Amino acid sequence: MYSKEVMDHFRHPRNVGKMENPDGVGKVGDPQCGDEMIIYIKVENNIIKDVSFETYGCAAAISSSSMTTEMMKGKTIEEVLQITNKQVADNLGGLPANKIHCSVLAEDGIRAAIDDYRKKSK
Ligand code: FES
Repeated sequence: MYSKEVMDHFRHPRNVGKMENPDGVGKVGDPQCGDEMIIYIKVENNIIKDVSFETYGCAAAISSSSMTTEMMKGKTIEEVLQITNKQVADNLGGLPANKIHCSVLAEDGIRAAIDDYRKKSK
């Protein structure tokens, strides 16, 4: 049911773990399934210098988090805000229809992390 990209990112997630002294933290959850995702970012000169995540959820949520963090690295804040859950799912070779909501969690996580960064850097 899952693509080989999904299985690869699920079995070998990139950028996993808690970050010390992040500049922004985005914590989001899906009330339907109870899964949770936290995205940590370090920002320098408006660029995502480092990013990591902790996800307590299904294979699609973990692979979406992993792919999303890969897509965020080195991008500007504005570029990162353009990332959509559809792009994440496409880069994962697609997600089953009933798992699309898991990639939405990743898009929400990005926005939450950037919001937190903007609040803290005011
Ligand atoms: Fe909850 Fe996938 S089933 S995020």
